[in-house]
Amino acid sequence: MQGEIALVTGAAGGLGLPVVKRLAAQGAVVVATDISASGITEAKRSTDRFELGAAQGTAAGNGTVYWRELDVADEAAVNEVFDWIAAELGACSILVNNAIKPCAIPHSFIDTGLEQWRSDYSIIVEGAVSCSRAALRQMVAAGRGSIVNISSVNAVGFYGHPPYSAAKAALLSLTRSIAVQYAPQGIRCNAIVPGTIKTPAWAEQVAANPQTFEILRQWYPSGDVAEPEQIAELALFLTSEQSRAVNGASLVADGGLTAGNLAMSRFVEGVPDPA
Ligand SMILES: NC(=O)c1ccc[n+]([C@@H]2O[C@H](COP(=O)([O-])OP(=O)(O)OC[C@H]3O[C@@H](n4cnc5c(N)ncnc54)[C@H](O)[C@@H]3O)[C@@H](O)[C@H]2O)c1
Repeated sequence: MQGEIALVTGAAGGLGLPVVKRLAAQGAVVVATDISASGITEAKRSTDRFELGAAQGTAAGNGTVYWRELDVADEAAVNEVFDWIAAELGACSILVNNAIKPCAIPHSFIDTGLEQWRSDYSIIVEGAVSCSRAALRQMVAAGRGSIVNISSVNAVGFYGHPPYSAAKAALLSLTRSIAVQYAPQGIRCNAIVPGTIKTPAWAEQVAANPQTFEILRQWYPSGDVAEPEQIAELALFLTSEQSRAVNGASLVADGGLTAGNLAMSRFVEGVPDPA
């Protein structure tokens, strides 16, 4: 990751922060962006150890983390941050589209208004489009780059929340468009398709039911949900040279959730359910 310049969106969140730390620990200069000023203040404390170069007034060094407030739904603000990167740090070579706005999960399709659809779409899809366009301009000029889109199992099956699911499915299509169009310029674009990750995005459900993750685990063939660091490791892999043959892929990280139905397969095969 030495010499890489990365931008992560939603960087103060449960998955974003481990991604920032993992990239910085490997030597990338990371521009960590989030809409939440208070989230940044809190997250910044845990990345201060990566900021030696900046703190000492020296030029950006390997592993330096810069925090910037950024609403990915604001295209002008997105372009401003990328202009700043080009002017101060050099061409952005890694983009991780990760931001989401946690919200109450709608119960019924009929009662889910267009406002909710537009809100999810503007952050998940339009945000990724704006960031990808701005990053691609710099990546094309440099002749290299890697974009990682954080999608979800909701993109490939229905597990609740129609607007979020549709937006995450669009992100997979966006991944393939960029992967194919920009492969000749040395740029890759891949998606990660995680199942449940233990992050603050679940805070409301956990507050209502502290057993939330225990209950969710039951549906996973692996019997477990992911820690954010496990998914951050995949983001590092997809942005690193080790994955240079991987382009346009959807890397499923769901403990087998979308591979099939364990309880049903046991029933069909006459294998007693251990429970
Ligand atoms: N947590 C899960 O179970 C799970 C499962 C599958 C996929 N994912 C995906 O992982 C990614 C990270 O989710 P998380 O669980 O860390 O969520 P999180 O709520 O912990 O973090 C999301 C971050 O995005 C920021 N954000 C919100 N609106 C923004 C905007 N307009 N512009 C920029 N930043 C904004 C928030 O301030 C927050 O810091 C998301 O793309 C999510 O869809 C999460």
